[in-house]
Amino acid sequence: MCGIVGYIGNKQALPILLQGLRDLEYRGYDSAGVAVLDNGKITRYREVGKVDMLAKKIGTKSMPGNIGIAHTRWATHGGVTEFNAHPHLVGQNPPVGKGVLSVVHNGIIENYRELKKKLKDQNFESETDTEILAKWIYERYDGNLAKAVREALLDVRGTYGLVVMHADHPHQLIAARLGSPLVIGISDGEYYIASDVTPMLPYTKQVTFLDDGEVASINGDGLKIVNLRDEIVSKPVTQIDWDQERAQKAGFEHFMLKEIFDQPTVFEDAVRGRLNMAEGTAVLGGLNMSPEQMREVKRIIIIAEGTARHAGLVAKYAFERLANLPTEVDFSSEFRYRDPIVDKHTLVFVISQSGETADTLMAAREAKRKGAVVRGIVNVIGSTIARETKAGTYIHAGPELAVASTKAYTNMIAVLLLYALQFGRLKHTSLATGQRLLQALLEIPEKMNVVLKQNDSIKKVAGRYKDYHDILFIGRGVNYPVALEGALKSEEITYLHAEGLAGGSLKHGPLALVSKDVPVVAILPKDQLYEKMKSSIAEVRARGARTLVIATAGDDEAKEIADDIIYVPDTMELLEPLLYTIPLQLFAYHMAVALGRDVDRPRNLAKSVTVE
Ligand code: F6R
Repeated sequence: MCGIVGYIGNKQALPILLQGLRDLEYRGYDSAGVAVLDNGKITRYREVGKVDMLAKKIGTKSMPGNIGIAHTRWATHGGVTEFNAHPHLVGQNPPVGKGVLSVVHNGIIENYRELKKKLKDQNFESETDTEILAKWIYERYDGNLAKAVREALLDVRGTYGLVVMHADHPHQLIAARLGSPLVIGISDGEYYIASDVTPMLPYTKQVTFLDDGEVASINGDGLKIVNLRDEIVSKPVTQIDWDQERAQKAGFEHFMLKEIFDQPTVFEDAVRGRLNMAEGTAVLGGLNMSPEQMREVKRIIIIAEGTARHAGLVAKYAFERLANLPTEVDFSSEFRYRDPIVDKHTLVFVISQSGETADTLMAAREAKRKGAVVRGIVNVIGSTIARETKAGTYIHAGPELAVASTKAYTNMIAVLLLYALQFGRLKHTSLATGQRLLQALLEIPEKMNVVLKQNDSIKKVAGRYKDYHDILFIGRGVNYPVALEGALKSEEITYLHAEGLAGGSLKHGPLALVSKDVPVVAILPKDQLYEKMKSSIAEVRARGARTLVIATAGDDEAKEIADDIIYVPDTMELLEPLLYTIPLQLFAYHMAVALGRDVDRPRNLAKSVTVE
């Protein structure tokens, strides 16, 4: 996601800021910008595309100054344009002219529309929430920058990691955090600010991590951190021993593990601002359809590949149960070559993390050509599928760098569930059911953390399965796709043969595979198919298979039919895949590590499959 860099000290700021942006490139972005203050004047450049394009635009132009801020933007509010890129520059002071206060910001200001209406200055350069925030701070400024920032933030609802610079304060930067990380690096009267430690590692290993609700004022006298009530907060200085690559992984051994652990946080990003609790529904503007047009939808087709298709399979249960809409899920590569029957009453959701998968893109074009309404559900902003499907929804999972997809999957499910609810509430889903589902969604991040805390015990379990050659995964109902996803995760990074099966299909063939040499991973939530799943587990145990059961917390009976057991907190049935998939991701990860595989870059696979 977006990256922030700030510098104040005695060196020239520009080269440090540009290098800092390059160090944050791994986070993903679509535009970049930099602002430097010198002699009471802020000079700013912004450009769409890579940091190198920004550097080229600046070229040999003079941009001196020992203080500055910079940003890489991953578009959320407003398209990918130079005007929407940060730093934003607002305000007007007679001696300086236009642009006295500059802001870089990560996060989302949820109430920016409300604030916008109340601003005195109604001329806007961009479509962003950040410009509103910058003006909101500027209109509170009376000579004390830290106070203006604090007062402004008291009115803000949403999340931010931000850095503010003012032309009248050549020795001061203000940084604040709520929900979006910021780190301050300290070195002999010089300070570095960034969204993570990566850009400051060449200069210092001494850092202070800002916590939510804290505002840092950095000036000639040093660093002062207060809360929003202006009470001093004393913070420890931490010594970082990571190299740059390790820092990008936030200290985790692999990107995949980091991304598995990112899930509670990015899940919140997927649902934030999209829930309407009072009406028990979701608010997803991406469809660009009126309620009447939505009621005209008679069928849904979901097209995707791999993990994205498994997220689609989970959503099928939600669309059918909540919205009473017949829902079909197909491989993009099959859809584009069959003769799909679609018309203007068919809504086609095209799901893709990368937004570049060739088969999925072609399938989307085919559906459009045949007259269906096509909408994208995509992670990478500005990617081809996002652009071609125009309307649609971003899943806000942030950059996913490991080839094996994890956090994109949970966020795809989150967005699809919200769509299913939105359709359902226009038809027969009751207010009470809608509210119950939203409440359950809000509890998911905490429950994900409960699962993640079992990482060490899951590692031990994985050690007992890594030496088999074949593993079967079984699940039923909404957890059948979870079995498919568990198998896919395992096979792609361990290279062991793994297959996901519907529990009920075992005795129609696959049971012939089961023996003491072929263990079975069974997903056994306490839901309507509990007894049926227990029968499937009994079938495989009778053939001598070692069984790992993923069960609902508190289910003591499950222990009796398992060789190994992992417990997952209880949730609503439609939401179970959001929790039950996580132990399988960790299980696959730890087997792969134990086998010495290249976890983040498994053989023969690419992150983005742009060829057929
Ligand atoms: C599995 C995996 C792949 C992708 C598939 C679609 O971990 O990553 O199966 O899910 O290639 O990719 P996207 O979502 O980018 O279209």
